[in-house]
Amino acid sequence: MIISTINLKGGVGKTTTAIALATAAKRDGKDVELYDTDPQSSASLWAMMAEESGDPLPFPVTPANVATVRIAGRKLKGDEDKWLFIDCPPNGRVMDEAADCSDLVVVPTTTGPADIVKTFETSETLGAKNVLYAILLTRIIPNTLSLKQSINELEERNASYFDVQVPSREALKNFFGNAFGEDLYGYEAVYEQLKESIKEDEETYGAN
Ligand SMILES: Nc1ncnc2c1ncn2[C@@H]1O[C@H](COP(=O)(O)OP(=O)(O)OP(=O)(O)O)[C@@H](O)[C@H]1O
Ligand SMILES: [Mg+2]
Repeated sequence: MIISTINLKGGVGKTTTAIALATAAKRDGKDVELYDTDPQSSASLWAMMAEESGDPLPFPVTPANVATVRIAGRKLKGDEDKWLFIDCPPNGRVMDEAADCSDLVVVPTTTGPADIVKTFETSETLGAKNVLYAILLTRIIPNTLSLKQSINELEERNASYFDVQVPSREALKNFFGNAFGEDLYGYEAVYEQLKESIKEDEETYGAN
């Protein structure tokens, strides 16, 4: 399987989501790798820091580009056992390539209005390309007006989104460079729903 984290907006939780979901997949017994396609190399730096601290990430993080992403797409799209997560920059050809070769694109966003606007731009672009995607609300504060409004907007726009959300957690704010402990801060449930979405899509359109 290939799962990319994509949003045309920066700082919305793409890298955190890629690393958390890759951890969940690894714990689920999958053969996991993460491609870092962002020139900022956040995921690679994250892996390096975790390694140096003696508690490495439980999967390899590999720098990748347009060509290596395309090759991976040919090999791994639809593969049940090997799960490749692709952490993307908020623009550029490598992001487009990752979208095209993904079984599912996760579009993380906060509930902030500026992030939501860019998120709809992202989801419309993915939808127009017939890419299976799901918007993930992260850093949410339960029972707030902004959460309610964001969900209403997702509904109004007929956007595809995860029913489960990732709460804002102080621990995650400073989490860069660490491997996850037992707690995946809500990403366990996101991973389960992600598996369901892929399964439903295969049942509807057939495995490729
Ligand atoms: N659930 C959360 N609760 C609190 N802080 C969070 C949460 N998820 C992510 N963050 C923080 O939000 C910031 C942005 O997250 P992240 O780096 O994952 O976003 P990004 O979309 O990959 O950013 P960029 O566009 O720069 O690559 C980071 O400081 C991260 O620690
Ligand atoms: Mg990032």
